[in-house]
Amino acid sequence: MTAPLKACALSELPEEGALRVELDGKPVCIARSGGTVYAIGDICSHADVSLSEGDVEDGHIECWLHGSMFDLATGAPTGLPATKPVPTYAVTVEGDSVLVQMES
Ligand code: FES
Repeated sequence: MTAPLKACALSELPEEGALRVELDGKPVCIARSGGTVYAIGDICSHADVSLSEGDVEDGHIECWLHGSMFDLATGAPTGLPATKPVPTYAVTVEGDSVLVQMES
């Protein structure tokens, strides 16, 4: 198992919102909702659009282009038009550091 990578500082993350980082050459959306931090693939499974530019609410993120919703915990689509999930990654928070496990 590879070591988790530092994605960002917890203080950089909005209380309900997301930001885009690149880890291991992959775009990753780090999101916070309801006090929990999540990491999912940043590319919407419907088209090549950055999910981190969408709205975060109630453990979900909404793609800004056509409004697909994704569950931040599972990556599953919960609103059309997307039908395919996005990848999820394990997150740990250590102090002010958000760490993401890219591979198990
Ligand atoms: S690109 Fe995300 S819903 Fe269409």
